Amino acid sequence: MALEGKKIVLEGFEKAYGTTDGVRVFFAPGRVNLIGEHTDYNGGHVFPCALDIGTYAAVKKREDRKLRFASVNIPAAGVTEVMIDDLDSARTGKWADYPKGVVWAFEGRGYKLDCGFDMAIYGDIPNGAGLSSSAALEVVTGFALRALYGFDQITNEELALIGQYSENNYNGMNCGIMDQFASAMGKENNAIFLDTNTMKFEYAPIKLDGMKLLITNTNKKHSLVDSEYNARRAQCAEALKDMQAKYDIKALGELSIEQFEADKDLIKDDVCRRRAKHAVYENQRTIEAVQALKDGNVARFGELMNQSHVSLRDDYETSCPEADILAEEAWKIDGVVGSRITGGGFGGCTVSIVKDEAVDEFINKIGPVYLEKVGYEASFYRLGIGNGPVEL
Ligand code: GLA
Repeated sequence: MALEGKKIVLEGFEKAYGTTDGVRVFFAPGRVNLIGEHTDYNGGHVFPCALDIGTYAAVKKREDRKLRFASVNIPAAGVTEVMIDDLDSARTGKWADYPKGVVWAFEGRGYKLDCGFDMAIYGDIPNGAGLSSSAALEVVTGFALRALYGFDQITNEELALIGQYSENNYNGMNCGIMDQFASAMGKENNAIFLDTNTMKFEYAPIKLDGMKLLITNTNKKHSLVDSEYNARRAQCAEALKDMQAKYDIKALGELSIEQFEADKDLIKDDVCRRRAKHAVYENQRTIEAVQALKDGNVARFGELMNQSHVSLRDDYETSCPEADILAEEAWKIDGVVGSRITGGGFGGCTVSIVKDEAVDEFINKIGPVYLEKVGYEASFYRLGIGNGPVEL
């Protein structure tokens, strides 16, 4: 897959800029989150893993201070040009704002670029699938900048933070740290158990003997994701403020279920209370799920995945009818260990753990039911758990 991606992005570079001489190619992965949804901006735990699909960047330095960006996936967008020193006022709301934002964030941190570059991008993550194509684009840009400009002091964790910072402040999406962290820190066949309150993390091997990790795309064309996402953050912040009347806490993730249940009436607004309930329970579910996995209890892990979906559907309201159909149909199949919507929500994908012998049934049963109920097809992916960014 990597060699194919490298070839495609180099062809894209040549088409846009007329050469491949001296061009370097980098890759950063997308991610799927196994459990711990909408907990990362609530000081809670997450459990994502990097995928073996992602974003490729072909890059070459220039002599002047110009930056040029071209996308193989969006040829109609042509080549975008901007001067490094004009980045602050160069937002257009188009795809190139992501790599532009990363350069802007580097400059803001004092990592000054002594010249510009030409960049071509190619991604094999399905667009809008909730598998973090934007985080992969941010991380691959940061990774390429570090290599090209010799910023060797930057760790992969800092690359993740720079990606999040630029997405928050250049692109206006108030995302947490999960996606960039999973992309920058991915490890083959491992998921990352990250406490977003302390940024401490550990790798947990994903050994699913006799089972597969399946990702199913609703293919729903969603809009308003950013504004709904930002609204959830604001509701959680309001709930936190109410709980701080009694608790000396900085994030909802610091609350136990018992504390939340005892004092939830401090949260005046009913909607905010339900959002906080999800944040608190989901955090505890994630801690329990990782322990279950360590104990070899995949069945319990699956139950907690299902509970996560219900909570996202009913309390957090970031699911959608299409993802509900996928999860609920999956639960009816005997060999499905667990199934839930993954990522920011309002569309995107579900992630499921399915016993080997039930994989065909999963696809053959859910596919037609989904088509009939929704009117278009779902896509089924068998993806591997991959490493973080690399130069190819
Ligand atoms: C998006 C954000 C992440 C995280 C998830 C929900 O993917 O980018 O930071 O909040 O939604 O878990």
